[in-house]
Amino acid sequence: MHVYKNLLTRSFAVFIFLIALVQPLQAATPSDPNVAGFAGAEYWDVVRKGNEGKTQVQGAEAGSLINVQGEYWRYWRNEWITPAGAIALGGTLGLLAIFYLIVGQKKLDHPRTGKKIERWKRLDRANHWTVAILFIILGISGLSLLYGKFFLRELMGDSIWSVYIMLCKQVHNYLGPLFAVGLLFMIVRWMKHNFFNRVDLNWFLKGGGIIGNNHPSAGYMNGGEKVWFWLLTFVGIAVCASGLVLDFPNFGQFRETMQWANIIHAAGSLLLLAASLGHIYIGTLGTEGALEGMKTGYVDETWAKQHHDLWYNDIKDKPEN
Ligand code: HEM
Repeated sequence: MHVYKNLLTRSFAVFIFLIALVQPLQAATPSDPNVAGFAGAEYWDVVRKGNEGKTQVQGAEAGSLINVQGEYWRYWRNEWITPAGAIALGGTLGLLAIFYLIVGQKKLDHPRTGKKIERWKRLDRANHWTVAILFIILGISGLSLLYGKFFLRELMGDSIWSVYIMLCKQVHNYLGPLFAVGLLFMIVRWMKHNFFNRVDLNWFLKGGGIIGNNHPSAGYMNGGEKVWFWLLTFVGIAVCASGLVLDFPNFGQFRETMQWANIIHAAGSLLLLAASLGHIYIGTLGTEGALEGMKTGYVDETWAKQHHDLWYNDIKDKPEN
């Protein structure tokens, strides 16, 4: 009896051993001729090169254990985009602070007349503030995803950090498509004001009023505002489109496509974030009376004359103004 028991145990052990042996071999029985026929170190060498093997799992590149292209993605993201973004954001903040300390706020040259002129309709303002608030939330959550690990994790401790960063990811994933809708609406609604013309060339040559004594002429939008608009149009759409590619990985896109989407998304959004600092500065601290327009819909006649003289001349005699 004892002999049988021993034999049974040994047979079972051999059986388990054979299964253990066959198991990796099954995974290593690749349908791809590039991998087939290799064994041991040679096999893993082929796998490391990213060749596909056999798997039950369905989906694009499911049979590829290692993604060689991922190394390039990691390099570009960690060695270039992460530091370049930090320099762009820090540099812009620094330059704006220096500019404010030296030049200060652009005040109104003449006293307010008290006459209010409608500049932004309710729908424009609702659209602007929806897009702006979503942009800020996406900016904070996105920057946390890229840079949080360097200092927030240490600051918060692992348990708070894990909840916070998971929240950032979810918020970012869900609000991104909403931002895209708001941005598209804004692009379509405001495009008519933003085509460049000769007046803008003069505006740029005068540095938007920094060079020379006179404030350069401008229509409804000045040259700088038009640059911000087209940056939002081209880079904003690229950021939204690449974000959607990342948001919905279930459409069969390849890993390389996702990596490209990630690089475009990160570089584009960092560029927009840096530019938005300039926009927010000009709209608040930088220019007396600008925020009033976006808050109430109306600007003072003096502001309109000083900053958008051609627009003011166009509308000053219209009955509603
Ligand atoms: C706290 C943040 C923000 C403030 C205080 C702000 C302020 C303003 C103000 C005052 C204007 C009106 C300028 C005028 O009447 O000529 C404006 C216009 C505009 N804003 Fe914002 N904004 C903010 C964020 C954003 C964001 C995040 C975006 C886009 C993602 C954005 C896009 C625009 C665009 C396209 C215009 C029209 C063109 C321009 O004036 O540059 N804004 N903003």
